Amino acid sequence: MRRLRKNEKIRALLKEHNVNKNDLIYPIFVHEKNKIEEIPSMPGQYRYPLSEVRDISKEVEDSGIPGILIFGIPEKKDEFGTEAYKTEGIVQSAVKTIKNTTDLLVITDICLCQYTSHGHCGIVSEGKIKNDDTLKLLGKIALSHANAGADIVAPSDMMDGRIGAIRKELDENSFEDILIMSYAAKFLSSFYGPFRDAAHSAPTFGDRRTYQMNTANILEALREVELDIKEGADIVMVKPALSYLDVIFRVKEKFGLPTAAYNVSGEYSMIKAASKMGWIDEKKVMEEILLSIKRAGADIIISYFALEYASL
Ligand code: PBG
Ligand code: ZN
Repeated sequence: MRRLRKNEKIRALLKEHNVNKNDLIYPIFVHEKNKIEEIPSMPGQYRYPLSEVRDISKEVEDSGIPGILIFGIPEKKDEFGTEAYKTEGIVQSAVKTIKNTTDLLVITDICLCQYTSHGHCGIVSEGKIKNDDTLKLLGKIALSHANAGADIVAPSDMMDGRIGAIRKELDENSFEDILIMSYAAKFLSSFYGPFRDAAHSAPTFGDRRTYQMNTANILEALREVELDIKEGADIVMVKPALSYLDVIFRVKEKFGLPTAAYNVSGEYSMIKAASKMGWIDEKKVMEEILLSIKRAGADIIISYFALEYASL
């Protein structure tokens, strides 16, 4: 075996997997304040005001990354998350700006948790998350994003039947060509912690265990993915990535659909923290991690490291 590792040329020739810029999507946070804020628990990531969206999206485009994923942080929250589907909402405005400045693929996260006063991903009534009432709102949000010019909508709420509901809403409004990238197997993960600080989206009571998946379950993950495909998902996502490489592998093998993996906030922040302490080599660890996600079967990797990786 060591003949195969003899020198750099042979090693390059025999390299089985590669992470290309084309595989990456860069997530950004846009808020309604007028200043740029670094996110304390995610060093190197920022909450951008609308006025900065132009520059950051140009930077992403210049780096060679094909797509950007937008998360909105509204000033006002209410029980029904009405800010999420406003024509001039934060995400809708950011989409328009990016579309006007770049040729990037614009992907929008569809959820309610940043927009609801209780911080849950669905409508709450008597302490319960109401599934079917939520679907109507998700459809409205998707439509408002499509109207603003989004290319791909990415529902992350984990309600049942949402992909079908969103597909129907889009099709009925002549948006047949908008893709749905479904957060199909989204687990109840503690790795979302830094994101919730960043997006002010932690639930004010309880947790998300009645809608996000039990981290122990892989057969159930495959059923989740199968349902989303039947309802019309074009791309299926596994989230988080690192503790779920087996799920990525199984999803890709079983369905063969374009498969995305979300290298989430906690996975990013751990590396940043350890490298700040001088305990690991950040660049090398980043490359190793992205490669492992690719090797597991992901076609698309959503990562806060995307820009840094592309700049290498
Ligand atoms: C909201 C949402 C979350 C993430 C993406 N969309 C957090 C959550 O479900 O609480 C997590 C992303 C990350 O941790 O980087 N539905
Ligand atoms: Zn949510």
